[in-house]
Amino acid sequence: MLCLLLIKRSDYRHREEIKLDRMTKDTILLDATYPNNQKVIITQAAEILRQGGIVAIPTETVYGLAADASDIAAVAAVFAAKGRPPDNPLIVHIAQLEQLPQVVASIPALLLPLAKRFWPGPLTLICPRGEGIPAITAGGLDTVAVRMPAHPVARAIIEASAPLAAPSANLSGHPSPTTAQHCIQDLWGKVDAIVDGGSCVVGVESTVLSLVGEVPTLLRPGGVTLEDLEQTLGRVALGRGVLEQLAEGEKVLSPGLKYRHYAPQVDVELVEGSSQAYGAYICKRALTEHNIWALCFEEDQKVLGEVPRLCYGKMEDDVSQAEGIFRALRQLDQMSVGKILIHAPCRKGLGLAVYNRLIRAAGFQVTYL
Ligand code: TXA
Ligand code: MG
Repeated sequence: MLCLLLIKRSDYRHREEIKLDRMTKDTILLDATYPNNQKVIITQAAEILRQGGIVAIPTETVYGLAADASDIAAVAAVFAAKGRPPDNPLIVHIAQLEQLPQVVASIPALLLPLAKRFWPGPLTLICPRGEGIPAITAGGLDTVAVRMPAHPVARAIIEASAPLAAPSANLSGHPSPTTAQHCIQDLWGKVDAIVDGGSCVVGVESTVLSLVGEVPTLLRPGGVTLEDLEQTLGRVALGRGVLEQLAEGEKVLSPGLKYRHYAPQVDVELVEGSSQAYGAYICKRALTEHNIWALCFEEDQKVLGEVPRLCYGKMEDDVSQAEGIFRALRQLDQMSVGKILIHAPCRKGLGLAVYNRLIRAAGFQVTYL
């Protein structure tokens, strides 16, 4: 019965991308997209995790590469599979508030009101690290990032196993994965299993908020908006590095801010301005430069002339932008594109998270029209 639910590597259409010499594990794909299968898939994924394996799992934001957060060897395997720098800490995912004492040393005063409003959901809170979490999981810090995901499959797997450390399930430097297929592209042969739970509804990673300083500080904009946090908390400080480039050697509040995340081979430029101005700018550039592509909004299409383009959402619709951005970046990565000129989103709501990812992809190169 169980074998019917496992799709063999050879059946998958991305098999040609999988280099044999990189295969160290016999990865299995567990399909949790059919409600009838879910129970059995969840049991199997949890069993692999309990035995120290590493499994890519769906969450509402992006897919995560999960390991038992307390298992040093399993967490080390996650860092190795992703090629992640060891000083970049992982988020620990819980399914219930009762699991908090296993993870944190003390519960910051603001955690409970925030949890009441935003958990389960795309909000990660930095707290003092508890004894149950080894230093490796936290990148050597004495704090730990905690989040309670909303995805029912993720929650059920945590319930059936343990609090799970899970960074995004991509190779370091690649866009975060929003489908099981993206995980297969990056991690096939490097992990024990990939659980297919369909497309992620949010599309950008969780918001990271530090609760260990004087003032709650936003370290990464994400699925919970800054405006929503301000409604609950009043003042929220914006961490350095969120929207500007850090100085060489500058001390960072969150190690993730040091890294470029998505670092495409091709040149990327972020362009801020109206649809008309963006269209005119890119058409002019395309006259003299070879193989320029537009990464734009659907509404921009009419002003782009013959310039090849890919849309990542609608101009006034930050939800569509968040949902589409990583898929679009992955698609462009697979084409032979000379230069990408991206129409910047408005920095409000989820647009702030999308802007943050894009400005990093562009190496902070922005043109204001
Ligand atoms: O939506 C998400 O957050 C996804 C899903 C799988 O939950 N996970 C995710 O993890 O995006 P990752 O590892 O790609 O990003 C975690 C970010 C990194 O920028 C990391 O530096 C920061 O959170 N972080 C983790 N622990 C931290 C800590 N103790 N202090 C400051 N920043 C921390
Ligand atoms: Mg990541």
